[in-house]
Amino acid sequence: MASRIALLCLLGLLVASSARPDSGIYYQIAFMWPGAYCEQTNAGCCMPTTGVVPARDFYISGFTVYNATTNAPKTRCSKTPFNLTEIIEIEGLKQYWSNIKCPSNNGQNSWKTAWKKTGACSGLEEKAYFEAALALRNRINPLARLVSKGIKPDFSLYSVKRIKKVIQAGIGATPVIQCSKGPFDKFQLYQIYICVADDGETFIDCPAAPKYTCSDEILFHPFEKWMLKEPKEGEPDETFELPSVAMDH
Ligand SMILES: *[C@@H]1O[C@H](CO)[C@@H](O)[C@H](O)[C@H]1NC(C)=O
Ligand SMILES: *[C@@H]1O[C@H](CO)[C@@H](O)[C@H](O)[C@H]1NC(C)=O
Repeated sequence: MASRIALLCLLGLLVASSARPDSGIYYQIAFMWPGAYCEQTNAGCCMPTTGVVPARDFYISGFTVYNATTNAPKTRCSKTPFNLTEIIEIEGLKQYWSNIKCPSNNGQNSWKTAWKKTGACSGLEEKAYFEAALALRNRINPLARLVSKGIKPDFSLYSVKRIKKVIQAGIGATPVIQCSKGPFDKFQLYQIYICVADDGETFIDCPAAPKYTCSDEILFHPFEKWMLKEPKEGEPDETFELPSVAMDH
């Protein structure tokens, strides 16, 4: 048994060392469950002014570049200006990288912030950075994965272990679950973080996963379109950012 483990370790080292030269970074994609956000936020949540109804799904809330040596987020790398035209037509951007913060806004500030704060550290062009995030979302598809195993936003309680297991079984890496305080002071599913190697494709366990406080069983709050408040007539289209979701540790 021990020798088998030793052999597996050796194989692991060989596989790791045969990878292409290390760029020294990895990524972390964050998904926010809008049902939890709408519930926990005093101001509620608002329909974006993009003209596109957000998906009834998890939204990308961050796509952060990390320094693999220090496990610290790489931020503000260059002054590469943000160019909205480059990304505005990317399929799924307005549906899956939605900003539902109130008052209603056009989401542009969250994309601009993501690019300026960490995207420019990715080594990718602006369009490729956003496309990479959306492609990862499609592959991870957290809601569909959970629903297919009976874990639904139906106000029921679900085991955090099981939620992790379902995603782990699907993508081969363990997600980090962040909870927030929901109704009746119960912890609810709020955000899911998944780390990705520097190839932008291989899922990895987050090297410095923070421990968020959750109970063993957490509420999966429903999310319905009617929860998004429509913008009031004549309300200025102010732009707001979602709170930063970079992992703190
Ligand atoms: C990571 O951080 C270390 C220490 O600050 C630095 O020397 C190194 O260049 C950084 N690597 C990358 C890829 O940014
Ligand atoms: C922004 O991107 C568009 C589309 O690629 C390009 O035509 C335009 O010149 C860019 N604007 C600036 C200021 O770089």
